[in-house]
Amino acid sequence: MSRRSIRFELTFWYSLIMALTLLIVGVAIERLAYNRISASIDNSLRQGAYAIINEVALLKGDVGAAMADTQGTSLNPPPWPPRYVQLLDTNMAVVYRSRNLGAFQLPVDTLLLRRLRSGMVIAPDMKLLDRERFRVITFRMRPVKGSPIGWGQVALSLHDLDRAKRKNRLALAFIIPGAIVISAVLGRWLATRALQPIEQVNRTARHIGATNLHERLAPRPVEDEVGRLIDTLNDLFERLEQNFIQINRFSADVSHELRTPLTIIQGEAEVALKPTAAPEEMRQALEVIVDEARRMSQLVRNLLMLARLESGQQRPQLTRLSLRPIVEDLAEEARYMASTKGLTLELGRIDDAEVLGDAVLLHQLGFNLIDNAVKYTPPGGVVALSLEVAATTARLSVRDTGTGIEPGELEFIFERFYRSARTRPLGEGGSGLGLSLVKQILEIHRGSVQVTSKPGEGSRFVIILPLERISRAGRREAGSSPIGERALS
Ligand SMILES: Nc1ncnc2c1ncn2[C@@H]1O[C@H](COP(=O)(O)OP(=O)(O)OP(=O)(O)O)[C@@H](O)[C@H]1O
Ligand SMILES: [Mg+2]
Repeated sequence: MSRRSIRFELTFWYSLIMALTLLIVGVAIERLAYNRISASIDNSLRQGAYAIINEVALLKGDVGAAMADTQGTSLNPPPWPPRYVQLLDTNMAVVYRSRNLGAFQLPVDTLLLRRLRSGMVIAPDMKLLDRERFRVITFRMRPVKGSPIGWGQVALSLHDLDRAKRKNRLALAFIIPGAIVISAVLGRWLATRALQPIEQVNRTARHIGATNLHERLAPRPVEDEVGRLIDTLNDLFERLEQNFIQINRFSADVSHELRTPLTIIQGEAEVALKPTAAPEEMRQALEVIVDEARRMSQLVRNLLMLARLESGQQRPQLTRLSLRPIVEDLAEEARYMASTKGLTLELGRIDDAEVLGDAVLLHQLGFNLIDNAVKYTPPGGVVALSLEVAATTARLSVRDTGTGIEPGELEFIFERFYRSARTRPLGEGGSGLGLSLVKQILEIHRGSVQVTSKPGEGSRFVIILPLERISRAGRREAGSSPIGERALS
């Protein structure tokens, strides 16, 4: 629908501009030609007038008498173009008419004659005998010596000029509609041709659906409007595909991860429902069910959060915030968590650091690290927390004296669902999503993490975030890999 209207519009404007151009050019050419011919007619009239003035100059006395003498034979205006000559004596009486005038007499404007003391004047064109238009030059005549002897008139027919003008108009009347038709056909062809690549893109884009989202439009060899459209569409397909993958992965993860707790819940429920089940047995089964249900809801919550962060939808609004209150809150929670497990919390320096971030996400990040530290440290151990400002960065450190991580496992711990077999008994109820969330949150904040760990001795996670003060100045390093800095002791 819209494609047709673009083509129609292109054709319409093309034809209209073409017609207007032709009209303007046609009229301008006609005017130019008319002025040229008109000027040459004036010239011819003046030449005729001078020829007569020269001849009359030789005459003596009144022109009437002279004419009577010579019977007009001495007057010899050039024959071409056919000029009409008429002479008047001092009384404004016509004394001579050239033969080509026949019985006809050129009109005499007495007012004009009286005003014309010397020289010559060309009167406005006039229509004579209701037929042709004429142009008349009137002039005063006087011999070499002596007073004026009368007036002369030379006239030329404008018949040819008028005919040329009529023909020209007629030609334009045919040419312009013809040109409009031709330019409409041409314009339509051009518009179709110009819109063809868009039509092609449209066809291919329509073909790309859920089943072949990985396909892309072929890029054009030239960087033109259509090329940019293709780029935009390809970007869109890319994002669609990513979201699609994300959704598929989410569903797959959910169904996979929920299978075990659901099986457990089912088994425990069956135990509880057995007619022979003792009250204590029932109670234990229900406790397991509640635990598993809690675990499942935590898992789904984490998965949803991860999926949202990864897909880029609901990008959090980063605002300037102070890390100190967040870390102080975390310290409270860490103290409680540590005490319930018989661990000591060592609180280090808590500097004031301003970063560009999302308070809820940063809190979640710190919590996941503290949760791990507490979880993977046997009772009697130490968990240490500190926030220090170093140069242009804020460094949040979570250290523990727990089981530590094998060097070979370091590269996997940030992957979703990765859980070390060694720590499994300690991290009861975990799903392996904590550090994936940390990684995603760091990506959003353009931060990075350093992990230092020694099996049997403990681990240290240092989160590095750019300070807001520098990011303002525009010197912040963008796009650094969040897991870029990883170190082993
Ligand atoms: N402080 C730590 N000390 C020792 N091992 C750790 C520590 N932090 C993480 N790990 C290892 O990395 C794995 C992944 O951690 P992650 O936080 O992603 O998952 P989780 O703690 O097992 O489960 P969840 O965080 O979802 O409850 C853990 O299973 C553990 O093996
Ligand atoms: Mg964890």
